Amino acid sequence: MNVQKLFLGLLVFVAFVLYSCSNNTDQKSAAQPGNSERKWWKEAVVYQLYPRSFKDADGDGIGDLKGIISKLDYLKSLGINVIWLNPIYQSPNDDNGYDISDYRNIMKEFGTMADFDSLLKGMHERGIKLVMDLVVNHSSDEHEWFKQSRSSRNNPYRDYYHWWNADRGKPPYRYSLFDINHDAWRYDSLSDAYYLHYFSRKQPDLNWENPKLRNEVYDIMKFWLDKGIDGFRLDAFQFVAKDTTFPVWPQGFEKNFIKYYAMGPHIHDYLQEMNKQVLSKYDAMSVAEGAGNSFEDAHDLVDADRNELNMAYAFDAVDLAKPGGYSVLKLKEIFSRWDSAFAEKGWLSIFLANHDQARLVTRFGNDSDSFRTISSKMLSTFLLTMRGTPYYYNGDELGMTNIRFDKIEDYRDMPTLNEYKHLQQTGGDIPAFMKTISFSCRDNGRTPFQWDNTTNAGFTTGTPWIKVNPNYTTINAAAQEKDSSSCLNYFRKLTQIRRDNLALVYGKYTLLDKDNPDAYAYTREWNGKKILVLLNFRSKPVTVSAGLDVSKGKLLVDNYGGLNSGSQLRPYEAVIIALQ
Ligand code: GLC
Repeated sequence: MNVQKLFLGLLVFVAFVLYSCSNNTDQKSAAQPGNSERKWWKEAVVYQLYPRSFKDADGDGIGDLKGIISKLDYLKSLGINVIWLNPIYQSPNDDNGYDISDYRNIMKEFGTMADFDSLLKGMHERGIKLVMDLVVNHSSDEHEWFKQSRSSRNNPYRDYYHWWNADRGKPPYRYSLFDINHDAWRYDSLSDAYYLHYFSRKQPDLNWENPKLRNEVYDIMKFWLDKGIDGFRLDAFQFVAKDTTFPVWPQGFEKNFIKYYAMGPHIHDYLQEMNKQVLSKYDAMSVAEGAGNSFEDAHDLVDADRNELNMAYAFDAVDLAKPGGYSVLKLKEIFSRWDSAFAEKGWLSIFLANHDQARLVTRFGNDSDSFRTISSKMLSTFLLTMRGTPYYYNGDELGMTNIRFDKIEDYRDMPTLNEYKHLQQTGGDIPAFMKTISFSCRDNGRTPFQWDNTTNAGFTTGTPWIKVNPNYTTINAAAQEKDSSSCLNYFRKLTQIRRDNLALVYGKYTLLDKDNPDAYAYTREWNGKKILVLLNFRSKPVTVSAGLDVSKGKLLVDNYGGLNSGSQLRPYEAVIIALQ
């Protein structure tokens, strides 16, 4: 490829790139940031695998471990090196496995412990590490601990959970994220007391003040780490520590509940204890869901000298997407602010989608026929070129889209169904709710993986637990395998580029053309290497005031398959250029 010629066009529009003067972390020095100590979990591309919807091997309509095993070569081919598996433990499935009744056994729909052992072996043989979900803010109400705990006020397991005896009157209001009535206290006549559940009434909150409970959790962690797994994603962990005097909070606190629920008393003591007793003894990766209320909270969770966790993920950016669109300026501002706060210390997770969100391309890109592929590739380029560990959700490598159910009967998500009932009971606006959930309900991100164009997208020979997106006939892995310009093959190129260019992992991030409302441009610099990333977030051509001399640069990738000679970025164009 004639690079000179290739860059001729690009040169026109990037002739005078202005480094954004407002970015103040970058100009100070070309020195390496203090957080560039190499670690495998920093160099990882984490692929999040939602087992219920990935691949069903036994025809019951539910994905399973044997199904994942049958796709290990596919996973390897993606170039990812860590898989975060959503919960696979025994569970009555009130919340798709986030309600665990036995932490040391496998959910029967998913298979057996022998299947798990083969899965882990198969992953390790392919150089892929496994991170499991650790759900210990709450258990299932069907866990033996809870059965014991509720049986009487004197039971030795009573203090594994939070109880408020009814003789004291009603407990101060706590908001439940998932309950039909939004009330997090559930009365239980068996011992004439209320128990606390921030999520559903089948997910009672565990009492972390009890050292016996904490030791149980550490034993569970050791059980899995001794089996050879490589780390944990700590579900809803910012909520585990509670002020158990349960003070009365101001009316309406639930509008800002994170402020009240996150980072409660002793949370850092618990994490330091967990680190000392478990994590430090293994080469395990750890990431918390939620990062508290401030950069200080986030740093306290992840800075190496704190001996707590490796990473946390914050929701500022993922919460931006709204049906009417979102501000690209705001997106840039959020990612740049977080990068700047973690430039010297700590480590970030980079993500825009997961199993709790609707689809990436629908929310942050453009899922119309004309722009789905190109905008999906652009978003993948973004996620894989930022500083931090990227978390990439299964199916996004195909550009899978929202299914947009219009009937409540099609939904499976418990909190969504509960909220629907709540609105029915309270005379709420159901049509508005239906509109909202067709854009934002997490079921959109949980429809079965689209493997091929056979019945049910090749996901199952049975009846799928949730409907398959009808667009599987055109959007599927088999078709994309054969197409060198598919989203899938583009994603593979990106993981390769990230592996080959450590500057994309550790490099200093510098935002360019800061006030451009349509494009996102930045460089990444490390050890004498400098890489330029240009992204058009719009469906129209956009001019970028870049200004770097790219004539000696090397094009690493362009989502159109090559640069054009125009002076603008084409709709949703993404370009990565190695400048030095
Ligand atoms: C976390 C999980 C979510 C689950 C909730 C309750 O937010 O990501 O899927 O419903 O915790 O466990």
